Amino acid sequence: MIYLDNAATSWPKPESVYQKTEEALRAGGSPGRGGYQKARKAAEVLYEAREALAELIRAPIATQIAFAQNATDALSMALFGLIKPGDIVVTTSMEHNAVARPLWQLQQTGVIIRKVSCNAQGELNWSMLKEALSGAQWIVLTHASNVSGTVFPIHEIGRLAAERNVRCIVDACQTIGVKEIDVQAGLFSAVAFSGHKGLLSPQGVGALYIEETLSCKPLRYGGTGSLSESEEQPSFMPDRLESGTPNVPGIAGLLAGVEYIAAKGQDAICRHELKLAQLLWEGLGVLPKVKRLGPGFAAERTAVVSFAVEGIDSGMISRALEETAAIASRSGLHCAPWAHKTLGSLESGAVRFSPGIYNNEAEIKIVLETLEAVLKTESAC
Ligand code: ALA
Repeated sequence: MIYLDNAATSWPKPESVYQKTEEALRAGGSPGRGGYQKARKAAEVLYEAREALAELIRAPIATQIAFAQNATDALSMALFGLIKPGDIVVTTSMEHNAVARPLWQLQQTGVIIRKVSCNAQGELNWSMLKEALSGAQWIVLTHASNVSGTVFPIHEIGRLAAERNVRCIVDACQTIGVKEIDVQAGLFSAVAFSGHKGLLSPQGVGALYIEETLSCKPLRYGGTGSLSESEEQPSFMPDRLESGTPNVPGIAGLLAGVEYIAAKGQDAICRHELKLAQLLWEGLGVLPKVKRLGPGFAAERTAVVSFAVEGIDSGMISRALEETAAIASRSGLHCAPWAHKTLGSLESGAVRFSPGIYNNEAEIKIVLETLEAVLKTESAC
């Protein structure tokens, strides 16, 4: 199989991720829920993983990072935990439903949403952004689009927001592990991400960083293994946001993924993926009736390449690629209807290729040749 859907979930994982996940599953033990050795070892896994994530995003205090189920879960924790009725929230027209749906829900409770439109490449209009930030309390935005690969300069946006006393919440689902995210300057109130994409971990684990000065209302209440005599949820992090038994095997895999990235180098991984994505972009550019979505490779980007083909359904193209040469791509709306509307592909949907660390140039050549043949056949039908 040629797997080109790493923006949905990375596959395969490094061998160490499989090993550490299995090791933790076999070892057992519930962290913070027993003084015996197995429980202590499980607690160590959480401690090490939290420290590794803190180092990755330069969080000064590791306990400001709470584990979550995935990026969607982490985003809901932040959005429902921090934003209050009456608050004004700026967002963009490129957001995934993980941001769009909670914001819609918050709007029903009296939160005011200002959506900044982006251009047809998914890029921000800076004068509209500045205008929208005036008088707002929050900006919530993705670091990179899961449809077009457009990257928002979040550190610059964070500074712009901070100058206006606006707090910034970042969806880093598509960039963690490949792009720099630095929270130490205090530009971000919250950063949410999943483990199973760029961090190469198993599914079912994500994380949320919350700035130290903020108190985030929990999304879930319950046992934390701490202050058990109190009916009230602990006020300290990470226990405030982490109720119930955590996914220790998943978090052990996450630790292995972060260690793998540290050893390979985030920049080297990003360069490799971008080189393959650029080959796809250029190859698509010479195929008739193909409309590529998003910016070209002169812009800062992630390794996501989406396209629509006039007169041919995107689902049909993905199916034909799989049937012809076992190529895995993702078609449709990618849980991001706002982004597709912005990019002009809401009606057609798109086919998305997202190469990862284990893809190579020979595979990309096969994909482009197969796609050309598929489009010829489908056009002739
Ligand atoms: N939102 C993920 C994707 O883009 C699942 O495929």
